Amino acid sequence: MTVLDTRPAPIHAPEPRTRHYLMCAPTHFSVTYAINPWMDITNPVDVERARLQWEVLRNTYLSLGHRVDVVDPMPGQPDMVFAANGGLTVGGRAYGAKFRFAERAAEGAAYAAWLRQSGVTVVEPEHTNEGEGDFLALGTMILAGTGFRTSLAAHIEAADAVDRPVVSLELVDPRFYHLDVAIAVLDDGNGSAPAEIAYYPGAFSQHSQRTLRDLFPDAIICSESDALVLGLNAVSDGHHVILPAAAAELAEALRTRGYTPVPIDLDEYMKSGGSVKCCTMELHR
Ligand code: ARG
Repeated sequence: MTVLDTRPAPIHAPEPRTRHYLMCAPTHFSVTYAINPWMDITNPVDVERARLQWEVLRNTYLSLGHRVDVVDPMPGQPDMVFAANGGLTVGGRAYGAKFRFAERAAEGAAYAAWLRQSGVTVVEPEHTNEGEGDFLALGTMILAGTGFRTSLAAHIEAADAVDRPVVSLELVDPRFYHLDVAIAVLDDGNGSAPAEIAYYPGAFSQHSQRTLRDLFPDAIICSESDALVLGLNAVSDGHHVILPAAAAELAEALRTRGYTPVPIDLDEYMKSGGSVKCCTMELHR
């Protein structure tokens, strides 16, 4: 007898690859100013809970076999915990960050110094850009966000700095002020499988939605409700996808594609508009 398996086949069998991450301990993390709609200075951070949540994230990466380095936190820089914003590093070259708001300006040099002393060539930015918050590296290109933080001119500068073509995408909803809260890279296309992403279309202009549809016809479409718990602010090693626990539908969609979702709770960081990916810079090979 033939039994028909009617489950949709995963598009590919995702393969994990060991990653190199940089994080910054939340020693000085708090919400003392408001530079995005998530931040409310009257909603205090539970410091101990934030510390534990960050440790869980770090230990999750380590237990999956990844390398995690840490940069020293700086007093007076409450957002420095969001390491993704410290630069864009690909193949031993980094494009340094130049923050949009004065409150975070000092972080740029701190991250550049760390990258330099670990052997990365850092290109000094002339234009405003917030590192991997707005630049997502794929095997063949960089997806770049603009509209709230990173300028369009920085997209061109980044392409030169890391020698990769850049695809510019326009963000239009202030709740999704960085690209890494609107798109999750699931497979970076650096292995045998093609690049795969998940995204929330409503975060993008009509033109950029069309670009994303053309480039990624098989992308996972994330619901507004999962995007609003920062479900797309996820980190994938090509197989395990570490994502905010509240994004249940997205986790289910990932499972269907053959990924292993690893839900974790980082809700203290949502008070600042961040989650898993924001707390993580990947040094892309
Ligand atoms: N409070 C920080 C800011 O507004 C959050 C940064 C989140 N980082 C990210 N990669 N999305 O700049």
